[in-house]
Amino acid sequence: METITNLVYLVAAIFFILGLKLLSSPKTARRGNQLAMIGMLLAIVMTLFDKQIINFTYIIIGLIVGAAIGLYSAKVVKMTQMPQMVALFNGFGGGASALVALSEYSRMTGAPRLDTFIALILGLFVGTVTFFGSLVAYAKLQGIMRGAPIVYKMQQALNALLLLAIIVLGVLAVLNPLHAWWFLLIIVMLSTLLGVLSVIPIGGADMPVIISLLNSYSGIAAAFTGFALQNSVLIISGALVGASGIILSDIMCKAMNRSLLNVLFGAVGSEEGSGGPAGTEQKRVTRFTAEDGAVILERAQSVIFVPGYGLAVAQAQHVLAEFAQILIDRGKKVRFAIHPVAGRMPGHMNVLLAEANVPYDLLFEMDNINDDFRNTDVAMVIGANDVTNPVARTKKDSPLYGMPILNVDQAGTVMIIKRSLSPGFAGEDNPLFYEDKTMMLFGDAKKMLTELVRVMKE
Ligand code: TAP
Repeated sequence: METITNLVYLVAAIFFILGLKLLSSPKTARRGNQLAMIGMLLAIVMTLFDKQIINFTYIIIGLIVGAAIGLYSAKVVKMTQMPQMVALFNGFGGGASALVALSEYSRMTGAPRLDTFIALILGLFVGTVTFFGSLVAYAKLQGIMRGAPIVYKMQQALNALLLLAIIVLGVLAVLNPLHAWWFLLIIVMLSTLLGVLSVIPIGGADMPVIISLLNSYSGIAAAFTGFALQNSVLIISGALVGASGIILSDIMCKAMNRSLLNVLFGAVGSEEGSGGPAGTEQKRVTRFTAEDGAVILERAQSVIFVPGYGLAVAQAQHVLAEFAQILIDRGKKVRFAIHPVAGRMPGHMNVLLAEANVPYDLLFEMDNINDDFRNTDVAMVIGANDVTNPVARTKKDSPLYGMPILNVDQAGTVMIIKRSLSPGFAGEDNPLFYEDKTMMLFGDAKKMLTELVRVMKE
């Protein structure tokens, strides 16, 4: 039985790794997801047969309840609410690891093995931090809590003190393995506090990094729990999630030109949608119509579309694809520039455009297209704001400062489709709106693009 179990676990691990590999391209991502799902199913079924830990009635009830919640949320949660959902799921992963660690301790008869017990305490600690940190991230993204960083004096010193207290309690628990309940419970309480306090100073444009970091924590917690349960497939899957979460955090940090330490301890970023075009009311903005836009586009040889969060809100991806095709049919060079943090989750724009069947070879990562804006007739920004905001290059106290942006301001004409002059996620006014070469096409992205399609066809 042990050999069969290990073999099945090995196959599951191979499925996970292949799944991750395939996820690295939009073309193969769907297949990657399916492979990883099969791997997880194999791992779960094998574990249930092997361990016979609980009665199968409970497992089937759990399966039905879990599948129903999963199906419901997949159908109901909008694409724009995905980050919140991911935050919540990360939290559940961490919470589950913490609960498993506690229940393992309650099942222990006699003194536990030292390594297993240390892993159990670490799983409890990281799992609890992940659960409560993720709840705060969820509350911030859902607007239940203020999105801006919450800072106070001695914040980092307090967090360091909490961490130290948890380490001391962990050591005390290891020294008294048979009577460790109180130590473990206080570890849970302090970890809860640490989880909350370490996420509240992060806000604004830094939220994507903290989400991927919490994702990584949930994997690390699972891996620790895997050591406590001595379950190899849990160790492997936890390590894969932990490592990929860290890699993703690193990619996001690079995209924003920040270090992870700066995100965790820098406390910059402001409230979503806050403020307004402060101090810029006097500047002149001209409202253009779809007809005006069509005249310029009719003459243009090359167009780069820059999609952003507003495209997802408006669900305008299909009409955008139709519009792009009209331009292509008229012999224009059409491309899409994708900023790594456009939208509200990693790969948001890729998923959105893939849904509308925009050919992958028209999609360009920022680094591969940024130098081409200067040779492009029209840059058409659709529901994007922060990722095009030139203050990122110049304004030192801006939450966007240092983040590489798409060089749309270098194109011949910049068309911007959005509903108002409101700022984007980082709450920073965008001087691009007031430039002479900019044409503001005010309106909902779907309505404006539909209008453009109509005019172009006429
Ligand atoms: P944002 O800077 O957030 O700007 C989106 C713009 O879309 C808004 O200014 C809004 O202006 C417009 N909009 C909203 N609804 C619209 C609609 N129905 N039709 C047309 N326009 C609409 O978006 P971005 O440029 O994609 O930048 C992303 C930001 O989110 C970055 O700051 C990033 O750090 C942050 N963030 C990213 C992620 C990930 S992982 N991608 C996760 C969390 C946060 P109006 O209200 O005037 O229409």
